[in-house]
Amino acid sequence: MIYLDNAATALKRPDCVKTAVAEALCSLGNAGRGAHEATLHASRNLYSTRKKLNQFFNGESPSQIAFTMNATESLNIAIKGILNPGDHVITTVSEHNSVLRPLYQMEEKGIEITILPCDPKGRIASQDFAKAIRKNTRAIICAHGSNLTGNLIDIKAVGQIAHSHNLLFIVDASQTAGIIPIDVQDLKIHVLCFTGHKSLLGPQGTGGIYVKQGINIRPLKTGGSGIQTYEKNHPPQMPTALEAGTQNGHGIAGLHAAITYLQDTGIHNIRQQELKLMRRFHQGIKDIPGIKLYGDYDTDNRCPIVTLNLADWDSSLVSDQLFTKYHIATRPGAHCAPLMHQALGTVEQGAVRFSFSHYNTEEEIDTAIQAMKQLAEESSIQP
Ligand code: ALA
Repeated sequence: MIYLDNAATALKRPDCVKTAVAEALCSLGNAGRGAHEATLHASRNLYSTRKKLNQFFNGESPSQIAFTMNATESLNIAIKGILNPGDHVITTVSEHNSVLRPLYQMEEKGIEITILPCDPKGRIASQDFAKAIRKNTRAIICAHGSNLTGNLIDIKAVGQIAHSHNLLFIVDASQTAGIIPIDVQDLKIHVLCFTGHKSLLGPQGTGGIYVKQGINIRPLKTGGSGIQTYEKNHPPQMPTALEAGTQNGHGIAGLHAAITYLQDTGIHNIRQQELKLMRRFHQGIKDIPGIKLYGDYDTDNRCPIVTLNLADWDSSLVSDQLFTKYHIATRPGAHCAPLMHQALGTVEQGAVRFSFSHYNTEEEIDTAIQAMKQLAEESSIQP
């Protein structure tokens, strides 16, 4: 199979990740629940991974990183745990349902939402954030990279706007963590939500939330914490405040190994390779008759994603043909980003997303280009 669905989840992972998970499965006790060797080993595993993630994102302290099962959980924690009735929030049409649905739930509880529009290429102008600020604006919440178009938001500029207006800046880094450097202090990010299973190359079921010191979040989950057992309330200190129950220590061991791999390989090198593959594919398909592209391909400042449709073929049909005839895996249909589909006019047709990893090869890209050329020829002779 030629796997070009890396924006959904990584398929190939470094060997060190598999080894780390396998070893953890045989050796980890329950972190923070005793003092024998296995539980201490589990506690060290969590701490060293927090430390690594904190270093990776240049956070203020490892204790400001809490583990979650994915970015969706992190975003629910941030959105439901920070906002109060009467707060106004600025977000964008680029958002995934992991931002939109928690926001809509909070809207029912009295928060107000401004959703910034995009241009025909799906780009959000950073100055629009400043224009949307009201007296009761509390936070800006946005995805760093669109999972549909691959476009990036200029989070340096938006972070500066948030900072100068004393707003909380909450960033969904689902599509960018692991391929684009994110320095939360430099970018003035208060809350960073990330998943482990995409470009961080960790196992599914891993992820986390970084919370700047001084920001209190009502926990989404409460329960066993291993400490302060006789208190009725869940401990308020980070990271325990946002973690309840047994953590995914096995997955987190894999995430630790994955970040070590990224650091050793260098995310700059990984990014260059992914951009090269994306460009090769884009060049190869952009002039095929009937191809409609979505996103801004005039810049390399984007995620390694190419999203398209072929004539008026349903995107699911194109994706199915790619897989059944050529064993090429892509994602079709609606990509959990309803407002961006509306903005691009792809609600009915959906869109076919090709998303690349540094594990892909030029031969695979060339096969995908040939496949699209052949499908385009067929589309011109079929009704
Ligand atoms: N959010 C993931 C995607 O974009 C699953 O495919």
